[in-house]
This record gives sequence, structure tokens and C-alpha cells, in this order.
Amino acid sequence: MSELNLAVDVVIMAAGKGTRMISKLPKVLHRLAGKSLIFHVLDTAAALSARQVVVVTGHGADQVEHALQQAETALPPIKLVRQEPQLGTGHAVQEAVPHLQNDGLVVVLSGDVPLTQAHTLKALIAASQGNQLALLTLKMPDPTGYGRIVRNPTTQALQAIVEQKDATPEQLAIGEVYSGIMAAPAALLKTWLARLDNRNAQGEYYLTDVVKWAVADGVPVVAHQIQDALEVAGINNPAQLAELERAHQLRLAHALMHQGVRLADPARLDVRGELVCGQDVEIDVNCVFSGRVVLEDGVRIGAHCVISQAQIAAGAVVHPFTHIEGGANPKDLVEVGEGALVGPFARLRPGAKLGADVHIGNFVEVKQATLAAGAKANHLAYVGDAQLGERVNYGAGSITANYDGAHKHQTMIEADVHIGSNCVLIAPVTIGAGGTVGGGSTITKDTAPGVLTVARAKQVSLTNWKRPQKS
Ligand code: UD1
Ligand code: CA
Repeated sequence: MSELNLAVDVVIMAAGKGTRMISKLPKVLHRLAGKSLIFHVLDTAAALSARQVVVVTGHGADQVEHALQQAETALPPIKLVRQEPQLGTGHAVQEAVPHLQNDGLVVVLSGDVPLTQAHTLKALIAASQGNQLALLTLKMPDPTGYGRIVRNPTTQALQAIVEQKDATPEQLAIGEVYSGIMAAPAALLKTWLARLDNRNAQGEYYLTDVVKWAVADGVPVVAHQIQDALEVAGINNPAQLAELERAHQLRLAHALMHQGVRLADPARLDVRGELVCGQDVEIDVNCVFSGRVVLEDGVRIGAHCVISQAQIAAGAVVHPFTHIEGGANPKDLVEVGEGALVGPFARLRPGAKLGADVHIGNFVEVKQATLAAGAKANHLAYVGDAQLGERVNYGAGSITANYDGAHKHQTMIEADVHIGSNCVLIAPVTIGAGGTVGGGSTITKDTAPGVLTVARAKQVSLTNWKRPQKS
């Protein structure tokens, strides 16, 4: 529902080929900020509280439809229509007509224009007043390739959109262009669509010709002009995709800095999801965040960290080159406790849960394991399917042998245990509280609290042994 109390039905044109992407993947499935272009557009439609979204597919329709069916986010109901062959933008919207009820207002979007803001579309809808044709336009320093907005020279009233290839030299000089986005009352739009023809330079059914028919019917055509070209920028090739990605990332970076986040370099940050930051958060260069990542007050992230699906508590420090790869479901979320130190070169996999002041050092891998407050694994270790109690010290080179070739098993290491270097803990196994395991031990049986356990061949020295000599 819009503020006009009208049901909004969104049509997304996504049948075009995207030849210049030179890719097997349909254009609208390429990703910007970690999300397919079409999902950016669908999220915008959701923010408009659209009653439904009609997606017009054509090239790569199977792949696009499959992706839409896998959607994980909450979206308005989606109707799929196929446009075969693709005879132009007007033809694309004609294919959607059977799904458009007369009482609605139709907003036409393109699947390859990802950064349109919902508030811009709300303003466009308001401009239509529910009974007029509203076009989203902007002035371009170089309007080449776009449809030009032709106005009556005296009244400035909108008369037509003329495509580049059909324009006269005077029309080509017009700087105001059509963005590709319009809002129109469904009942009227249908009558205009029915009157389109393809007698033009490209032999296509142009959606833009509805302007001509609205004018002929005496229905006012209004323009909602915006300044920000990024909002309506389409993607046709990998260079444009990369350019839009950088522009989008720079905006995200500035929004974070505006909240007080200190970025070493706003041009060297990538957020491919949701990054939530507390106060006095510092992020060094070249970090990539994906999924939902929360950095609480005072967290510092070193250079070159890749972090997804993680909750990092106040005062924790993640040193350079650390990879944190949590999962979306709560059991797989990575949690780093208050004041914990992680890295450099650490790897926290799904379900790593670190308590306060835990230290995870270089080349330590943690997976589906809980480390209670003050536990430390500082060098070269694997902790998987395990629970470490408070203040456990887990020596260099030690591993939990959690997999017997068929099943995963748990290792329990109770509070205040010291595991020496190069130990193999063959799960399932429990090391009792306060115990010590001698370096190089292979532990296969539970140990009692407080004892020293050594499980390795005894050291022997042979005094009368002679090294072989060459004869
Ligand atoms: C269109 C507008 C032009 C505007 C420009 C803004 C028309 C005739 N022209 O031109 O005035 O300035 O957008 O970017 O509308 N599509 C289909 N089926 C088709 C043809 C296109 O689904 O048969 C889809 C494309 O995949 C794309 C969108 O419609 O997502 C726009 O098509 P495109 O060919 O890029 O239109 P332009 O020629 O750029
Ligand atoms: Ca285009």
C-alpha cells in the first residue's frame, strides 16, 4: 500500500540478454554487494510494501526463476511470466498485464538497476497521485543512449519520450532523460499498452510510447526528477558492475564513518551483507564482511580480515589475515567474547564460540567448539567438536581427532587443563579438570582430574651405540 492508499503492483523487466556481460549467468543474477541484482530490486519492492511483483523473464528464464524460488528473504508474492521472444520493453510489460488488477498502481522497474531507493519510488508514486502517469527522470551531462524527455517549449508539459535512435538532432540535445522507471494506474496503462506498435528505428514495442498515448487521452504526465544517477544506473558489462560496486561500497563506508566507525581507508572496505557497529570500532584496510556481522564497542579489526556471520563482543581484537566464517543459523554463528584476541592468521569456522579473554593465535582452526573464558590456543592447533573449560591452555600443534571416518565425536577439556604441544586427543574423550597432558601424547582414554597423563614411548638413550661408517 502506498500513502495514497493504493495497492502497488511492481513489474520487473528481466528478460534481456545481457550480451555484454559475456557470461553464462543471466545478467540479473550477477551480484552487487554479495546479492544478485534482481534481489536488490525485489528488496526495494518489498520496502514499498508492494501487493505483488510480476517478474518478466526471457533469456536464462530457468536460472532466474530457480533463483527466485530459492529466495530466503521475506518478499511480496512473486508472479513469473515469460517473454519469448523479447520484442521490447513495451512488449515485456504487456506480458505482465494478465496479472495486473485494474485497481492498482503499476511501478515498472528493471532487474539490472539495483540501487533505486524505496523513498525515491514513494515520491514517484506520490507524484502520480494515483491517477496520472509519473516518470522518474534526471539530467545527464552526457545523455547518449537514453530516452529523451520531450516537453512543450512554452508550458513545459511532458509530451513524449524519444529514444536515442529515433531522435532528431534537436531532441538529442535534450539533457533530461528517462530513467527506465515509471508509475502508472493499471487500468489506464493497459489501454496504452494495447495501442503500442513497433514502427520505430529498432522495430521494438517501446514502453516509452505510453507517454504519447497518455497525452492523447488527456491524462497528465508528470516527471519526478532526481539528482543521483547511481539510483537509476543499469548494468550492462563487468566494468559497470565493478564501478557500481565501488560507488555503493563507498557510500556504505561513509555511512559507517558517519556513525563514528573509524575506517583506515573508506575505499578499501567491502560489506556484502549487514555490518552493525558499536562505538569506537576500528577497521583496517581490505576487510570483507558478509552476512550479518556485529562488532560491539571498541572492537578492532586488523588488515585483510574476511568475516561472515559473526558476533564480536566489546573490546575484542581481530589481528590481520584472520578468516571468520560463521553460518546463518544460530548454532553456526561465530561468537567472539569480550576482550578476546584472535589471529593473526586464525581461522574460526561455523560454531566457534569464544568466551571472554580467549586467545586464538596464528594457524589455529576452531570449528563447532566452545572455549570458556580465558582459554588459550596460541599456535598451530585444531579444536573441532570440543568444549574447553575456563583457562584451558591448549598447546602448539595439538589437535582433536574428532572424526573416526564415519562419525564426529566430542572432546571435553575441563577447566584449568594444560594440554602440552603436539598432542592428539582421540574423541570421544574427556580430560579431567586441572589435569596436564604431556607433550606428544596420544590420548585415547578419559583422564582423572588433577593428574599428569603422558602417553608416548619412553625416552631411551643407548650408550654403546655406534653410527654406521662408510667402508
Ligand atoms: C530503456 C528506455 C529508455 C531509458 C533507458 C534507461 C525503452 C524503449 N527505452 O532503454 O528510454 O532511457 O531504458 O535505462 O524502454 N527488457 C525486457 N524485454 C525486452 C526488452 C528489454 O525484459 O524485450 C528489459 C531488459 O532486460 C532491461 C530493461 O528491460 O532490464 C530495459 O531494457 P534495455 O534494452 O536496457 O532498454 P534501453 O534500450 O536501455
Ligand atoms: Ca539499458
